[in-house]
Amino acid sequence: MAKFIFRVFLAVILLCLSNRVNGKAKFKDVEEKLKQLNKPAVKIIQSEDGDIIDCVEIYKQPAFDHPALRNHVIQMKPSFDLKEVKINSKNESSKLTVFQTWQKSGSCPEGTVSIRRIRREDLLRANSVQQFGRKPQEVVLKSNTTIEHKDGQSPFFNNTKFTIVNRSAATLVTVGYNYIGAKADINVWTPNVESEDEFTTAQIWLKAGPGDNFESLESGWMVNPQLYGDKKTRFFAHWTKDSYKTTGCFDLQCSGFIQTSSKIALGAAISPISMELGQQYYITIGIYMDENTNNWWLIFGNGITIGYWPASTLNVLKNSATMVEWGGQVYSPNVRKSPHTKTAMGSGKFASSLKGNACYMENIGIVDFSTQLQYPPAVTTLAEENYCYTALNHQDGSESSPTFYFGGPGQNYNCP
Ligand SMILES: *[C@@H]1O[C@H](CO)[C@@H](O)[C@H](O)[C@H]1NC(C)=O
Ligand SMILES: *[C@@H]1O[C@H](CO)[C@@H](O)[C@H](O)[C@H]1NC(C)=O
Ligand SMILES: *[C@@H]1O[C@H](CO)[C@@H](O)[C@H](O)[C@H]1NC(C)=O
Ligand SMILES: *[C@@H]1O[C@H](CO)[C@@H](O)[C@H](O)[C@H]1NC(C)=O
Repeated sequence: MAKFIFRVFLAVILLCLSNRVNGKAKFKDVEEKLKQLNKPAVKIIQSEDGDIIDCVEIYKQPAFDHPALRNHVIQMKPSFDLKEVKINSKNESSKLTVFQTWQKSGSCPEGTVSIRRIRREDLLRANSVQQFGRKPQEVVLKSNTTIEHKDGQSPFFNNTKFTIVNRSAATLVTVGYNYIGAKADINVWTPNVESEDEFTTAQIWLKAGPGDNFESLESGWMVNPQLYGDKKTRFFAHWTKDSYKTTGCFDLQCSGFIQTSSKIALGAAISPISMELGQQYYITIGIYMDENTNNWWLIFGNGITIGYWPASTLNVLKNSATMVEWGGQVYSPNVRKSPHTKTAMGSGKFASSLKGNACYMENIGIVDFSTQLQYPPAVTTLAEENYCYTALNHQDGSESSPTFYFGGPGQNYNCP
């Protein structure tokens, strides 16, 4: 017994020391953050993939720690009709959607919301407790020097050449209108992520504000080992008010998103994954502003309301978005460099390999103040490192609107 206690004691000491030595999150900060993030659960669901889902009383969720939300009264459902934000032309029953792994192990009772528990080791992997759960700041270098690969042109910067540090994207972009909604069906894959501090996404962005200080609401799927502790494909949401400088986070890892769903957990793993030349799976993501409250709703699948970003925490976006992007992004210190990262985007195949191989988005739509869901009036494609990850908007034979293909392997013969 004494020996056992001594061993535990030793382990704790070593843990404290190792934290200090590698300069990562400090023990005390970690414990405080855990207490702040994880709210008391009414019911706990242990998922077979290792996740723990806490069913938290709806008014005890993390959003209520936000100063602007202390007295917020939850809007339980959107005031728009979800049937109206449905895709018009396609046969939905012939498509296969995904589920979340934890749903096999139980469900959360009414009056609660399902929240993926943050574990101690999740925080210990972060570079700092302050930075935990957030996209790294987006630093934009405007430049007219030639950098190894052809750089993208951003509508934000008036066609000035630009480089976004540590990020590489391949996207479909629409600008110049006032958008109050955007959606897409996003094909699901599990791309390779080379090292722990890198991630890869397939997502929608709704943005407003200047290019170096924009607001953004985002959702899609992601593989992010540093954040989640594994390389599974997970459903995520993210927001920021200042280009990720000091505000915002993924999922519910800070206060700012109000969840209303007890069925879907942000940050939880999704499956099945599409197979090469085989069955394709997708998630439907919709982000729509409620014109009565100016809250932005996140809709998953065929009309499952996840929750909303409240108007009171937003600035310009409170009124409308001015830009929508669909596509993938790789975060890595080794983009625009040789050796280039081997972290893949989409399925890991280039856009030109089309359906069955490349990752795609279809039923792409926007909502403007006509409140009709429609294909965006003007789109452009953008591939920041065209030899590593590509973008292709392609009219597949019978479809009523183009399908957007994107992705690539990262490092390859043409992207050394
Ligand atoms: C939709 O697809 C299903 C299964 O493939 C088929 O049975 C049905 O007739 C189709 N409906 C329409 C309206 O095309
Ligand atoms: C970039 O362009 C600006 C004017 O357009 C010029 O003043 C500057 O010298 C250029 N920089 C380089 C490094 O070529
Ligand atoms: C962007 O373009 C507009 C008109 O095309 C011009 O008036 C404006 O000065 C440009 N801004 C910058 C930063 O170059
Ligand atoms: C890019 O990544 C490197 C390595 O992780 C990091 O030191 C640097 O701060 C990052 N730069 C930005 C602007 O995020």
